[in-house]
Amino acid sequence: MSLSVVILAAGKGTRMRSNLPKVLHPVAHQSMVEHVIDSARSVNSDNIYLVYGFGGELLQARVQGDDLTFVEQKEQLGTGHAVDMASPFLKDDEDVLVLYGDVPLTKVSTLEKLISAKQDGGMALLTVKLENPTGYGRIMRLGGHVVGIVEQKDASAEQLLIDECNTGILLANGGDLKRWLSNLSNDNAQGEYYLTDIIAMAHSEGVEISTAHPDTEIEVEGANNRVQLANLERAYQLRKAEELMIAGASLRDPNRIDVRGNVTIGSEVQIDINCIFEGEVSLADDVTIGANCIIINSQIGKGATIKPNSIIENAQIGEACSAGPFARIRPGTVMKADSHVGNFVEMKNTTMDEGAKAGHLTYLGDAEIGKKVNIGAGTITCNYDGVNKSKTIIGDGAFIGSNASLVAPVTIGKMATTGAGSTIGKDVEDAQLAIARPKQRNLDGWKRPTKK
Ligand code: UD1
Ligand code: CA
Repeated sequence: MSLSVVILAAGKGTRMRSNLPKVLHPVAHQSMVEHVIDSARSVNSDNIYLVYGFGGELLQARVQGDDLTFVEQKEQLGTGHAVDMASPFLKDDEDVLVLYGDVPLTKVSTLEKLISAKQDGGMALLTVKLENPTGYGRIMRLGGHVVGIVEQKDASAEQLLIDECNTGILLANGGDLKRWLSNLSNDNAQGEYYLTDIIAMAHSEGVEISTAHPDTEIEVEGANNRVQLANLERAYQLRKAEELMIAGASLRDPNRIDVRGNVTIGSEVQIDINCIFEGEVSLADDVTIGANCIIINSQIGKGATIKPNSIIENAQIGEACSAGPFARIRPGTVMKADSHVGNFVEMKNTTMDEGAKAGHLTYLGDAEIGKKVNIGAGTITCNYDGVNKSKTIIGDGAFIGSNASLVAPVTIGKMATTGAGSTIGKDVEDAQLAIARPKQRNLDGWKRPTKK
């Protein structure tokens, strides 16, 4: 049977105090509605209908997919009216799952529970027992069977005591849903077309209404303001931290890590506090990440050590390498096995071959650095003439003395040596020593200036 998902996202989100439609506010690396779309796709939806009210252009620019249809709800007349906007698209013989664009943390396993709870010819509701049910629709049962939902504002004093609440998430047959929606009225306390009224209709038709429940409340919480959004972010991050720990990583403090993408790990990975991982990051066996590192779209090889306060983006760090503290490794950098960069080393679009080292205070841009090269402190590749970028090539085993300016394009041969303080603009042959600095003069009889 096919599955369509209707995502309600027409609310303006006034309490966000933002120009951005509410559902575009982010949790980790993507907007709330993108999390919901991911969940829909994870339960193998065939079509997704996104019901929007405001910021249609922004939404369509940010959220995309061949399986996605944008359906406008011009006036927000209620959740039932919102779902009904998608009715023209829904098939009679498919299942329809209703989700909410501002409820991003529902687990896929919970949606699967809901889907398997629905019996043939029945429907299914996701409900949750809350200590404080205020504001929620209450689940009414008779003899254990669900018979209806009453909204807070329409509930009697007795009904308000019910602690089983409607999360809003439900699953029904498309034909049933369309028939029920077309019969809704707005004769209630809020003058809205309530989606929840379909439950009593289903019951009166003898349709079995099954229920499923989330593992935790956070799965069904939405964000109406930035405080709630921050709560969702923390809950999401703790969930990511727990996934990493279950997969075998040691986190010094699961409350002080941020994952904005996917981190895959080998065994015996250790991560100190305040690290941020973005995009696709892989950490191989025995990797150690120091405190305050930011690692973006990069692969860190087996046994590598990233020391504190390093930033690594779009780079590959090989086996047993070390980087930092305070290394800045920019896009296009490849460090091969056993290479090392120390504090205040910046690299961009540079390959460091096996065993090469740059211990301190260096900029290496557009450079190819051979095996076991030693780059002295203060070395700068002058790769930019104001218009063009040029390459610096350093052969295996070369030794670059401290405080060198390597004016690209320039090639330094294998086993060559450059003297400290040199400005090297001409190629150096294999094994040569190049010194390019003024000769030292020592003058006798020099008097220091005196104060006037
Ligand atoms: C709804 C449920 C309530 C449930 C609660 C869970 C109804 C009538 N009530 O109440 O039983 O306990 O959610 O949070 O369904 N929306 C639209 N178009 C509209 C109205 C709403 O897209 O015309 C969207 C909103 O953007 C929001 C969601 O639907 O994301 C829920 O709407 P809201 O008005 O917040 O419903 P509640 O009063 O919270
Ligand atoms: Ca709500």
